[in-house]
Amino acid sequence: MLEAEHIRVERQDAGLYIHLNRPEKKNALSLAMYERMTALLGEAESDAAIRVVVLQGVSGCFTSGNDLADFAQLVSRPEQLDSPQNPILAFMNALARCSKPIVALVDGVAVGIGTTLLLHCDLVYCSAQASFSLPFVNLGLCPEYASSLLIPRLAGHVKAAEWLMLGETISAEEAGRFGLVNAVVNDLDTYSQQKIQRLVRQAPEAVRVCKRLLKAETKVLVEQSMTTEIEDFKKALAGPEFAEAVAAFFEKREANYSEANYS
Ligand code: COA
Repeated sequence: MLEAEHIRVERQDAGLYIHLNRPEKKNALSLAMYERMTALLGEAESDAAIRVVVLQGVSGCFTSGNDLADFAQLVSRPEQLDSPQNPILAFMNALARCSKPIVALVDGVAVGIGTTLLLHCDLVYCSAQASFSLPFVNLGLCPEYASSLLIPRLAGHVKAAEWLMLGETISAEEAGRFGLVNAVVNDLDTYSQQKIQRLVRQAPEAVRVCKRLLKAETKVLVEQSMTTEIEDFKKALAGPEFAEAVAAFFEKREANYSEANYS
């Protein structure tokens, strides 16, 4: 599949549908995919005819998170992590700052940033076979993009510590119980279409004002948290634990942190 096809775009009524479409790599997000999605969010922002952005994966897979091969390349230039040129940061900023409502539909796995990005969406629906995980610590990394701020607010400290320190899979039911998703539904397409159609029929300016007010309290905190996390993330990315995690993933073995050369 050509890189350009890894993001499929559809305009339907007043909705801009962004489909992650790289199933052979479990929809791992390459830097090129981030760049495309950032451009699309920019288009949505400036096009008055678009009232809602919908983000979804393919059947059975939302995304396996950052493309670990692309991501490992960042090790050689960690200073780029907090640069506006970093396509991941540019995308997450565009997502967090988008003035129009964003609906995410999750079927199958949502790993790492695939779960983190949901914290910046407005409505999230998932199927019963959806699962979520935040395996940053598993990879020798730390929480990112304000997840260390937003998850404890959502689920409380002990649940946030469980999700983030243990990095275990979170079931759809648990995600629903702790407010990571609005609803776990049997027929994701039909159910979400009803909600999306309702959203596009709502008064658009009132929806945008509502979104701005809902995010007003956390806006500055989110930006501060992103900055703090990136400092720790940069250190971790250059460290031996992340190197061992990436090697283990591509060698299809379990990471062995007892042998890593910690300093
Ligand atoms: N980056 C790069 N490639 C990835 C990837 C990622 N995040 N996730 C999956 N892939 C690739 C695999 O290397 C494999 O490629 P191959 O067929 O060339 O060997 C292919 O996608 C299928 O993945 P596989 O692991 O065989 O699928 P699975 O159904 O057994 O498991 C996951 C799916 C998502 C649980 C598993 O792929 C996984 O844990 N991925 C890594 C998740 C991760 O750590 N993301 C980063 C978070 S910051």
